[in-house]
Amino acid sequence: MYASFKSIGAYVPPKILTNKDLEKIVDTTDEWITKRTGIKTRHIAENEVTSDLAYKASVDALNNAKMKPEDIDMIILATITPDYFTMPSTACLVAEKLGITAPAVDISAACTGFIYALAQAKAFIESGVYKNILIIGAETLSKIVNWKDRTTCVLFGDGAGAAIISATEKKEEAITDIDINADGKYKDFLITPGRGVKYGCESDRIWLEMKGNETFKVAVKTLSQSVTDILKRNSMTSREIDWFIPHQANYRIIDAVARTIKMPKEKSVLTVHKYGNTSSASIPMAINDLYKIGKIKKGDIMLLDAFGGGFTWGSAIVPFNL
Ligand SMILES: CC(C)(COP(=O)(O)OP(=O)(O)OC[C@H]1O[C@@H](n2cnc3c(N)ncnc32)[C@H](O)[C@@H]1OP(=O)(O)O)[C@@H](O)C(=O)NCCC(=O)NCCS
Repeated sequence: MYASFKSIGAYVPPKILTNKDLEKIVDTTDEWITKRTGIKTRHIAENEVTSDLAYKASVDALNNAKMKPEDIDMIILATITPDYFTMPSTACLVAEKLGITAPAVDISAACTGFIYALAQAKAFIESGVYKNILIIGAETLSKIVNWKDRTTCVLFGDGAGAAIISATEKKEEAITDIDINADGKYKDFLITPGRGVKYGCESDRIWLEMKGNETFKVAVKTLSQSVTDILKRNSMTSREIDWFIPHQANYRIIDAVARTIKMPKEKSVLTVHKYGNTSSASIPMAINDLYKIGKIKKGDIMLLDAFGGGFTWGSAIVPFNL
């Protein structure tokens, strides 16, 4: 049995925050944000939490696949902004909203979360345990950024994307390869120190903190290596890839990695200008954008890559089968 990428869906909350709006909140400019990151707007959840966004993205993915919630055997949800920081998991809340009982679990791999969820779904399906797994990347990062810190609050946004990974006997539909990795020595580069038991309630450092410049350099180097390696070990080049769909943190990171693998501009998918960095949600949201405008078609080969807190990183070669 192979694992196949069967469906995609997404949801963004309606409120849009522009760079001009941010000029009124912190000492920044539209020009600085645009030039350094490519971001122009981001969506902000007002009366919704992560499970609400995740649920709506999941319904979209189910509708696109013409499937019902009862068809789902397992939910794997990647997030760093769960509704509750210990329990219950956000995946359990989504299962309840969908009206199903099924194994449901959250994973924490920051911006690489969607690729980690994909790797786990692939393993469960290939080992014959489950047939249809709902994987979700969902974030309300607006709730953990410090709105007084101009070096981080301008970068992030809220949103959710969901995909259905299903069993297939057709080899041409199979997820080709996934590479995931992590290195904890970079733990302090991207961290919310006061959201766990180590510092807990005694800490006033409850907001996301980032060493932006250092993170940028490691991200470019690590991602370039990861995508080069995965292409090489599958005897592929950018020519065999229809869509390069990287995590959307900064257009300069995407551009640098794309140049390393000689990926033509028209195959590189950019959504960071609209949504900012939505962490684990950014890749499925970008795939969904391609799908909704009718650009991606069944059989197209996607190259995904992501990098995030931990540090974690990963890449994947995935045929699109919706
Ligand atoms: C965050 C990031 C956009 C900053 O860009 P940069 O070119 O590295 O900029 P620096 O951090 O060196 O800051 C340059 C200057 O701009 C200032 N600055 C920072 N944020 C600013 C803002 N929003 N508006 C105006 N000025 C700002 C800094 O204070 C600094 O000023 P100084 O030179 O007087 O000290 C960039 O480092 C980045 O994208 N990093 C990776 C982010 C990322 O991928 N994170 C998640 C991984 S998933």
